[in-house]
Amino acid sequence: MEALRIISDEHKNFWRIAVTLEHVADEIDQGEKVDPAFFESVFNYIENFADHAHHLKEDDHLFRLMRLRSDSVQPMIDALEDDHRMAKQHLNELKDKFAKATHGNYTELTQSLRDYTRRLKTHITKEETEAMPLARQILTADDWHEIDTTFLDNQDPVFGEQARADFRELYHRVVSLAPDSIGLGGHSSGTLDKHAKPVSGDILLKVTGLESSYGRIKALKGLNLEVRRGETVALVGANGAGKTTFLRALSGVQPMGAGQVWFDGEDVSKVRSDQRMRRGICHSPEGRQVFGPLSIEDNLRLGAYTQPKPFLSQDLERVYTMFPILKEKRHLPAGTLSGGQQQMLAIGRALMGRPKLLLLDEPSMGLAPLLVEEVFNVVKALKREGMTIILAEQNAFAALALADRGYVLETGEITLTGNGQDLIKNEKVRAAYLGM
Ligand SMILES: Nc1ncnc2c1ncn2[C@@H]1O[C@H](COP(=O)(O)OP(=O)(O)OP(=O)(O)O)[C@@H](O)[C@H]1O
Ligand SMILES: [Mg+2]
Repeated sequence: MEALRIISDEHKNFWRIAVTLEHVADEIDQGEKVDPAFFESVFNYIENFADHAHHLKEDDHLFRLMRLRSDSVQPMIDALEDDHRMAKQHLNELKDKFAKATHGNYTELTQSLRDYTRRLKTHITKEETEAMPLARQILTADDWHEIDTTFLDNQDPVFGEQARADFRELYHRVVSLAPDSIGLGGHSSGTLDKHAKPVSGDILLKVTGLESSYGRIKALKGLNLEVRRGETVALVGANGAGKTTFLRALSGVQPMGAGQVWFDGEDVSKVRSDQRMRRGICHSPEGRQVFGPLSIEDNLRLGAYTQPKPFLSQDLERVYTMFPILKEKRHLPAGTLSGGQQQMLAIGRALMGRPKLLLLDEPSMGLAPLLVEEVFNVVKALKREGMTIILAEQNAFAALALADRGYVLETGEITLTGNGQDLIKNEKVRAAYLGM
């Protein structure tokens, strides 16, 4: 199912661009000027990759086989393929509005931008929440073998290394041209909190020589890292650097190939994930992964399953004080929450495990800039309370701005480490963050 991961990675980039375009629309409404080169780079990216590579991957491989396996998926796939067919026309409409806008008509442009991003997001959500789960159910092992072989063919003009390099370059261009205030999710949440306690704690986590692989792909190549009690450590790096794999290896859900994890004075390398959670390693995973049909309160209870019963109501109250919106909606299904609220729920659920070490995987992912700020405020508040935190983020500036220390991860290796503020100024960090 490597193919699904590749598609999801591409979705993530499209999503970031959609969020950025929405923000750009707001800025234009407020009278800001936006560099035409930025729009050209977005159009270029979408044309080259959505229309040529991304849609083809889905239509010719994934969707074709899904159609063979099940009749009931036809209407859904028809609709998704219609979206793909219409994509070019929708982009042309947007380009048209952009051309006119340069003569002063901005209302139509911002309207068109919002229509465009709304469609894009709806489409991605549909693929992620409906088509992909179904594909996992109905496709056979042989199907996956066929799809994955094509997707991993490095010589292929659509799937190969060259195409990926082109894709990265176009994306980088979009990032570097995005208005400063946006920076494609690179919002700074301000400077280091001066009132934070100085970190003088003992070493809570010590990782040495950690390796982890997916089949023959080594995703982590011997990581060394230390976290002191009370410290907030940012783990930054581009798409695919290995942040998620690292956090999953720490919480024990991802097998370690080599290395050691010492936690709170004990070697937990061979300890199972539920036992690590009992010892206080609590994880808020990438993509939130809340249980949509369950109520918000039940989701929180799930986070407390390793805890003695008497703690429950008091811990729930604590989470509710932190996130009043969750209290208000506690009997509703978690699936009814907005993206930002689900992120709060995912963090709340991790807190229910009474963490000694809280692992946060891209809490700002896919959120509009204002919500990003809110999530980082939550992290700051936890930090102030003395919680020990590892914060994995592509959003490097925001993460480093609030962290005591940071590690830069590049293709499975730590390439730089230092205090958060120093890293922010480092050219290499900027490069790593931009995925170059
Ligand atoms: N389930 C998987 N099967 C095969 N390879 C995988 C799988 N998950 C991740 N990888 C590969 O492992 C490497 C590290 O991926 P990982 O998801 O840990 O990176 P990341 O830094 O969290 O990226 P992102 O910022 O996109 O979340 C990448 O090369 C990725 O392609
Ligand atoms: Mg990740």
